[in-house]
Amino acid sequence: MHVLVNRQRFDIPPGWQDETLLAVLREHLGLVGTKFGCGAGQCGACTVLLDGHAQRSCLLPVGAVQGRAVETIEGLSDANGRLHPVQQAWLDEAVPQCGYCQAGQIMATVALLRQEPTPSPARIDEALSGNLCRCGTQQRIRAGVQRAVA
Ligand code: FES
Repeated sequence: MHVLVNRQRFDIPPGWQDETLLAVLREHLGLVGTKFGCGAGQCGACTVLLDGHAQRSCLLPVGAVQGRAVETIEGLSDANGRLHPVQQAWLDEAVPQCGYCQAGQIMATVALLRQEPTPSPARIDEALSGNLCRCGTQQRIRAGVQRAVA
């Protein structure tokens, strides 16, 4: 089987197929931008895009994503290394505190803005409500999303 990760094809050997997508990304492919938080599908730190939609990767067996397109935080910048507008907005608004949850927050935001380019404040809150931040940066996250929209 294979998976497309950040537009690149990776063959997944049979021995890995019961591992989670998160474990394969971090431990086998070296893509450590996606974080392990709760490991129970509840915090959103492990959010990636699966066929363009936000998806938690900590419980999902990699065998379930055969042939599908996965995007991680490492794949957001363009071919010249220029940051994605959401990443740039995060920098401009100085969103992160400890930073641990922020890759997941950014990926959830990218998914939202692809589906709804101009979400209302209520919709932003709703879409990101499952991505927890223990440092309390929610207000700056909101500002980051709004800057990315502008
Ligand atoms: Fe996957 Fe918390 S690590 S939801």
